[in-house]
Amino acid sequence: MGQFTADIEKIRDQARAHMEKGAVTVGYKADRKQVIAVLNDVLATEILCNLRYRRHYYMAKGMNAESIKAEFLEHAQQELEHADWVAERITQLGGEPNFNPEGLATRSHAQYVEGTSLREMVQENLVAERIAVATYSEIARWLNSDDPTTEKLIKDILKVEEEHADDMLNFLESMPGDDVPARLADPNQK
Ligand SMILES: [Fe+2]
Ligand SMILES: [Fe+2]
Repeated sequence: MGQFTADIEKIRDQARAHMEKGAVTVGYKADRKQVIAVLNDVLATEILCNLRYRRHYYMAKGMNAESIKAEFLEHAQQELEHADWVAERITQLGGEPNFNPEGLATRSHAQYVEGTSLREMVQENLVAERIAVATYSEIARWLNSDDPTTEKLIKDILKVEEEHADDMLNFLESMPGDDVPARLADPNQK
C-alpha cells in the first residue's frame, strides 16, 4: 500500500467552503442522489418488515408459538432499528427520509404477506429475509467503497438479516411437514 498523503490545508478550505453539505465532502465519490434513492428503498423495506413481523407477533398461535412469537418481536424491533440507522444516513447525505405510507409497499424490496398459519408466517419471513440479503448484497457491491460509511451500514444490516433468515429456517425445519416453498428457490422473485 502506498503512503497516505493528504493536503490538509486544501481539505480544511474545502470543508469550510462546503459546510452546508454536512458529512458530504468533495472526497465523496458516489452519486449522492442515487445513494439516497437506494437508501429510501431500503428504509421502506425495513419499515415494511417491521410491520410484517409485528403483525405475525400478534397473530402467532398454537404449539411452539411462544418461542416463535418472541423471535418475531425481536426481529420487528431490529428492523425498526435498521430503519432508524438508514434514515439517519439519508439525512447525513443531505437527503430526506421517505416515511410516506403511500407507496411504501411498492418502494420496499420485500413484500407484506400476512400468512394464515404459523408455518406460513415463518415461510413468508424467510422469503422476505432472503430478498433483503440478496438486494443488500447487491447494494454493498454497487457502492464498491465509493461511500464506505454507507457500505459499512448496509453490511452491518446485511449481517443481521442473514441471522434472521437463519432463525426462520431453523423454525421451519423444526416444524412438521418439510416441503420448501417454490418461491424460496429464487430469492429475487417478488
Ligand atoms: Fe432489517
Ligand atoms: Fe430481517
